[in-house]
Formats: sequence, structure tokens, C-alpha cells
Amino acid sequence: MRLVSSLLPVRRAGLLGAAALAASLIGAPALAQGIEATMNKAGCLACHTVDKKLVGPAYKDVAAKYKGKPEMVATLSAKVRKGGQGVWGPVPMPPTGPDKISDADLKSAIEWVLSR
Ligand code: HEC
Repeated sequence: MRLVSSLLPVRRAGLLGAAALAASLIGAPALAQGIEATMNKAGCLACHTVDKKLVGPAYKDVAAKYKGKPEMVATLSAKVRKGGQGVWGPVPMPPTGPDKISDADLKSAIEWVLSR
């Protein structure tokens, strides 16, 4: 019985660890799906993916470019609103109005992009 009782705490910790892992697995992608769904509706994902350049730059490249510059959130939000070109090449990004994505969602979207 000594063996069983000395194993018990380990098993309990294992279960707790598994529960915490499950919670973080469920929690994080659910959040990403929320903003990704919003961005999909706004049309962002027609031109951008996280990993590959499409019409626009890959979001992970955008994140790398502005790494450690959280002040760029406002600048980049304004750029998405007004559209623009020349930073990644000659292809312009068209404007995306508040009818497509709210200010709050746009800010979340840019923060999500910069954390890729
Ligand atoms: C029709 C295609 C298209 C759509 C739709 C689009 N983009 Fe872009 N996006 C581009 C292109 C092209 C660029 C590169 C512009 C440049 O070189 O300055 C770009 C650049 C960006 C950048 C980097 C800007 C910079 O100055 O470095 C961000 C951030 C971005 N897009 C986010 C978004 C978000 C968020 C949405 C949705 C609300 C969106 N884009 C919708 C084509 C698109």
C-alpha cells in the first residue's frame, strides 16, 4: 500500500496539469477563432494568411517587422482604414470602412496580427 499512497499525489498533480492544459487548449484557440471569424467577415483573410504571402504580406512577416513596437497598432489600424501601398510592394491594400469592422475589432485584429 505504500506504493499506492506515494503514487497518489503524482496522479492528482497529473490530472490537474491535464485539466490546466485542456483549459488553455480550449481557451486560446477559441479567442483566436473569434477575431479570425471577424477578420474573415471583414475580408482581411481573402488577402492575408498567417504564414504565406497572398495578395498582402503574411501576418507573421508583419508581426516580425513591427516586433516590440506596440505603438504601431494605431498606425496600422489607420492604414487598414484608409488603405495604402508601398511598404510591402506596389500592390495597394484597399480601405476597409467601419461598416466592415468596428474600431474595437480592428484594434483587436491588429493586436492579433502583431502577436503572430
Ligand atoms: C484586397 C486585399 C487586402 C485586403 C482585403 C486587406 N489587406 Fe491588408 N494588405 C494588403 C496589401 C497588398 C498590403 C501591403 C501594403 C503595402 O505594401 O503598404 C497589406 C498590408 C497590411 C498590413 C501591414 C501594413 C504596413 O504598413 O506594414 C496589415 C497590418 C494589414 N494589411 C492588415 C489587414 C487587415 C486587418 C485587413 C482586414 C480589415 C486587411 N489587411 C485587408 C492587402 C489586403
